[in-house]
Amino acid sequence: MQQYYVTTPIYYVNDEPHLGHIYTTIAADVLARHQRLNGKDVFFLTGVDEHGQKVQQAAEARGIAPIELADQVVERYQSLWPELEITHDDFIRTSSERHKKGVLAMWRRLENAGAIYKDFYEDWYCVPCETYWTETQLKDAECWEDRHCPDCGRDVEKVQEESYFFRLSAFQDQLVAHIKANPDFIAPASRRNEVLSFVEGGLNDLSVSRTTFSWGVPVPDDEGHVVYVWIDALTNYLSALGFPDQEVPKYWPADVHLIGKDILRFHAVYWPCMLMAAGLPLPRRVFAHGWWTVEGEKMSKSKGNALRPAELLKQYDADVIRYFLLREVPFGQDGDFSFDALKQRYNTELANDVGNLLNRSLAMLNKYRSGVLGAVDVEQEMDRALIADVEGMQRDVDAAMHKQAFHVALERINEVVRHGNRYVEDNAPWALAKAEDDSRLDTVLYHLVETLRLVAVQLLPFMPVKMKHMLEQIHNGETGTESMLFADIGGWGLLKPGHRCSKPSPVFPRME
Ligand code: MSP
Repeated sequence: MQQYYVTTPIYYVNDEPHLGHIYTTIAADVLARHQRLNGKDVFFLTGVDEHGQKVQQAAEARGIAPIELADQVVERYQSLWPELEITHDDFIRTSSERHKKGVLAMWRRLENAGAIYKDFYEDWYCVPCETYWTETQLKDAECWEDRHCPDCGRDVEKVQEESYFFRLSAFQDQLVAHIKANPDFIAPASRRNEVLSFVEGGLNDLSVSRTTFSWGVPVPDDEGHVVYVWIDALTNYLSALGFPDQEVPKYWPADVHLIGKDILRFHAVYWPCMLMAAGLPLPRRVFAHGWWTVEGEKMSKSKGNALRPAELLKQYDADVIRYFLLREVPFGQDGDFSFDALKQRYNTELANDVGNLLNRSLAMLNKYRSGVLGAVDVEQEMDRALIADVEGMQRDVDAAMHKQAFHVALERINEVVRHGNRYVEDNAPWALAKAEDDSRLDTVLYHLVETLRLVAVQLLPFMPVKMKHMLEQIHNGETGTESMLFADIGGWGLLKPGHRCSKPSPVFPRME
């Protein structure tokens, strides 16, 4: 069976989950569900990043041990995911023994490959980003005057300490060659160009250990050093799969690492170079999505305006949140979250379009045919056009999902829904029902219900609960969707004459 491995970043435990965290995780879940329906053997990984100076400082500020803070925040993530219908196959904690074992093995491999050496680090560090900056980089980015981080704008601090280094510079040419030979490796294309020019601009060796705090994985045989948190964190993608017990574990290499644009350099530069040094295959793709603002403003801890998932879930079903986040903004671009936009999209695309098509079709089927589908008589041009559109949708959605173009997939599905509603108007079933020979009515109702069923099947990964509800009406309450595959349920013509549907019950009631 073909395998599919999708990952999210592992989230820092210094803060509670917010909109940015659920965004990536929902996107990964939709891909995982889509590929499961495609019959693939899917492994979907998420987890938390517990080590590093930032987490240690956050714990100190609360007067608790880092592991206590981690335990509290882990609990928040683990209880949140089921509420958002997230179906991850594993949840990795970097404080776990299995992970630490993976980090040690990775370190040893880098060391054995001659890619690690000891020296002295004297430059700058951004704790919130857990990123090293050279004086030159700060000067180039015009951050020298007030010594702030070129990425996040917060203060950087001077670090002067003995440190191990990773020979990043030695992999520059190999990485450039890999990026050029694999156009799909980094997406979207703008990000790929950004990385390419960064790498071509020259890579410096990377400091990969710290001695001035202790919350991390100790460097083997030199325990005054802890492994740099990014070397530690990136290794999660392998340790969760059973590395090093399995040298190249099942599911590796990843099909796609989904990340935010702010952590692209770690995933598209450091991580592939580490893997090259360790002699392991590189992930197939790294996709960097954009950032959300909320009601026009950047979310920030100091402003206290981070949008919390609990607040969203109080007002909206998980499926509606899932749909909105992936529909509103092309994946890869920045976007703004607003409650008005959510309501508007919901009312137009879900309540008016999908909901209306379902309600009117099942209502007419029940009114005119007691809920039972009749036989298709002669197919007309407009029937064939609808079938062709539905079949085209299935191909187009799969292609879009292959490129993580969720918004394209959803728009394509919506196109079919609008086509379905036009088909109702064009055929006017209420008039057909009055005709002396009303056999055309059966053909029209059949095409509507079959279109709705296939729309629901394609929407299952996005809105699993609502689409199950919709499919249950189409299947008269009988069919669960758990073990279904596109191959079994995704083709036109599954419903047979005599098939009974329930009366409609609203899946997307209008929001006032
Ligand atoms: N621990 C690292 C990742 C290690 S992966 C080996 C980390 N954690 S994080 O908790 O700070 O951020 C996780 C993700 O949240 C990042 O992908 C980041 O892009 C995303 N987001 C944080 N704020 C965001 C928005 N406002 N909008 C969208 N995503 C955002 O980085």
